[in-house]
Amino acid sequence: MESPFKPDILKGMVALLTGGGSGIGFEISTQLGKHGALVAIMGRRKDVLDSAVATLQSQGIRAIGLEGDVRKQEDAIRVLDSTIKHFGRLDILVNAAAGNFLVSAEDLSPNGFRTVMDIDSVGTFTMCHEALKYLKKGGLGRGPSNGGTILNISATLHYTASWYQIHVSAAKAAVDSITRSLALEWGTDYDIRVNGIAPGPIEDTAGLSKLAPVEIKSKAKEYRPLYKVGEKWDIAMAALYLASDAGKYINGTTLILDGGLWLSRPRYMSKESVNQLSRAVENRSRKSPVGVPASKL
Ligand code: COA
Repeated sequence: MESPFKPDILKGMVALLTGGGSGIGFEISTQLGKHGALVAIMGRRKDVLDSAVATLQSQGIRAIGLEGDVRKQEDAIRVLDSTIKHFGRLDILVNAAAGNFLVSAEDLSPNGFRTVMDIDSVGTFTMCHEALKYLKKGGLGRGPSNGGTILNISATLHYTASWYQIHVSAAKAAVDSITRSLALEWGTDYDIRVNGIAPGPIEDTAGLSKLAPVEIKSKAKEYRPLYKVGEKWDIAMAALYLASDAGKYINGTTLILDGGLWLSRPRYMSKESVNQLSRAVENRSRKSPVGVPASKL
């Protein structure tokens, strides 16, 4: 689909994306690049990075791939340093790296829980923490006029409770909390905007194939308000909105993009039945108002 944004809204800006070589992260890399940004993507797998960079470059996007694991502080420092050495500045940090698998709480080892917390929550904080000196107003490679922006990719799992996702729910709850705390502290002190995006099920992603395998996908359909899964494009458009000046007054929010899925509950009664029942109840209550026994009317 065509982007509704002008192709130069991010002209000359530099974006670093963790997990930017595949899935939602890669689509965000692509759309930021198509709208003028220079793109650095960080990931653990060299082959994935190489192929992502080649695809971005084939679309005329200036892109580099930097190997690193967000769980390692030294990797975060090195990757940020290389981004600045290569592009001279940093305007946008997108934390899209995440780990996930379905497992019941009783079968999940504490190390499995910790692994996802380390990637999603600690990794997000580490990247933000190490990026601060570059993103802040007047920071290294930035002008004195404004600070950069951070986007944290989250989820909706923790809004209620999700089966077999105790680790990711806890990790994404922490991510949302990090988003708000940094929006407050760094918005105030350094003019940095910090926001999040909480995608629902998105087609062609590791998340969907890992968390909603084909066997359970069809069942879930009846619970979806819009009866469809989202596209990576939907998330990338939200990222453009939040990262560009279009979102200049947005700080500390996590935008939900799930078609209303997290609100949904199975319908327990048809519309026809509810009409009939409601009218019958209303008639009865008019004849006998609450607290007035029928014998006294
Ligand atoms: N069920 C239960 N436990 C699991 C598991 C599963 N499917 N997969 C991993 N674990 C546990 C391991 O058993 C281990 O715990 P233990 O030491 O107590 O046995 C712990 O998690 C770490 O596993 P390991 O394979 O060593 O971690 P890793 O760093 O190589 O991989 C993952 C991290 C597990 C998150 C891996 O899935 C990953 O790298 N994912 C990145 C991509 C991704 O998931 N994207 C989806 C985004 S929604």
